[in-house]
Amino acid sequence: MKKLLFSFAFLLLALAGCNPSKYLLSDSLSVNRDSTGREIFSINTCPGEDCSTQMNVSFAARESTDNCLIYLFQNKRNTRVKGYLLKAGEETLCTVYDSIYSKKANGENFYEDARFHKFSCSFSNLKPDTEYCYWIVCSYKDDNGITRHSQSDISKFKTAGNDKWSACVISDFHSYPPLPKRLASAMKMVETVNDYAVKKNRKGFDWVLHLGDVCAWGGSWSFWKEMYQVDAFRNYMWAGLNGNHDNMTRKYQLTNQFFKNATANPLNGYEGEEGVCYHFTYKNVLFVMLNSESMRDSLGLAKAQAWTRNVLNSSNAKFKVVCEHYQWFFGENGKTSQMRRWKDLFEECRVDLALGANNHIYVRSKNLPTVYIQTPSSDNERGVDVGELTHNQDIIAKRWSEGGKTIGAMLMEVDRNSMTLTLLDREGKEVDSVVIKK
Ligand SMILES: [Fe+2]
Repeated sequence: MKKLLFSFAFLLLALAGCNPSKYLLSDSLSVNRDSTGREIFSINTCPGEDCSTQMNVSFAARESTDNCLIYLFQNKRNTRVKGYLLKAGEETLCTVYDSIYSKKANGENFYEDARFHKFSCSFSNLKPDTEYCYWIVCSYKDDNGITRHSQSDISKFKTAGNDKWSACVISDFHSYPPLPKRLASAMKMVETVNDYAVKKNRKGFDWVLHLGDVCAWGGSWSFWKEMYQVDAFRNYMWAGLNGNHDNMTRKYQLTNQFFKNATANPLNGYEGEEGVCYHFTYKNVLFVMLNSESMRDSLGLAKAQAWTRNVLNSSNAKFKVVCEHYQWFFGENGKTSQMRRWKDLFEECRVDLALGANNHIYVRSKNLPTVYIQTPSSDNERGVDVGELTHNQDIIAKRWSEGGKTIGAMLMEVDRNSMTLTLLDREGKEVDSVVIKK
């Protein structure tokens, strides 16, 4: 992929705000406005290895695309414009989702028609603590062989750099077009978390961390495509995990390639997990992102742990956070789950926070000294009841769900010396909070 990622600075413009119509491309490109966005899809911003200066962009374009240009702007006045040119011809087509058995929004069964160019672009040398916006223009041949241009809507992200930052933490919304309220519930929750953040810091949160199961079937390309159309994916950088649902098709074919090809995460993971397992820093916090599906057996776990140990020990970040999709505890009764396999390593490497999901019941441990938290579900549909706590009464500090219809998410607030995680319900009311200090 790197071969086609070459960048060049080519323009210097004064830009007031982030208004594409003002710079709707040079005279050499006659954009067919009617086709705006139609030929470019699933745009999402992913973290670079160091989010102060690097960000990645993932998107897809139709099979007949020749090349794409990304126009990157600082979202302030008098700023530099950068262009990134990506050539389609140097890259093979993405076919991993093609002909996968799936379901349309109207309930009709069908086979995904999904052959497209998958683009990943790495922005580098960005300015820390800065808002950026970008849009994409692709040239492609139409059905008559005539070259046309299509332009995407604007996407935004914010680089790390400020000592104080915050993120929305959400998981398990199992986006499924026949039941659109799932995605709508989760995205409303993202807004609720942002409203809460605005009340506290006036500016809202800076990015979103998802802990997996964003799609009901990751093999269904149309599910990703529809999900990425919501505003939250255009307005923020999203760092995410591969969940068991993201890893499977309707017929339960399993591969991490679905998650990988729907994102553009740093390629710093271990063999076979590049772009699926990855690590990045956001200011003073290191995030190690794991793939639960590749750690089900002891060999897979050993590989993941060797890599994780190395990443943790090589970092001088102030706070260290490890994320995987599977739960640390079974929230129904408090029985130990993945925590058993990780607690020694986390203690050895001084991991401050371990984030999980999957169980659909929020659980937070006491400070052990690692704090273990798993998020609740957020789709108002696949929630799980909390039962009697019969295990780990001495270390579990809080459990929460709303039963079958659960919607919750967290705000993570970080400053120089502390990380604060607050669980909110659908009304934006504080359900639980913990401060992790250094
Ligand atoms: Fe889930």
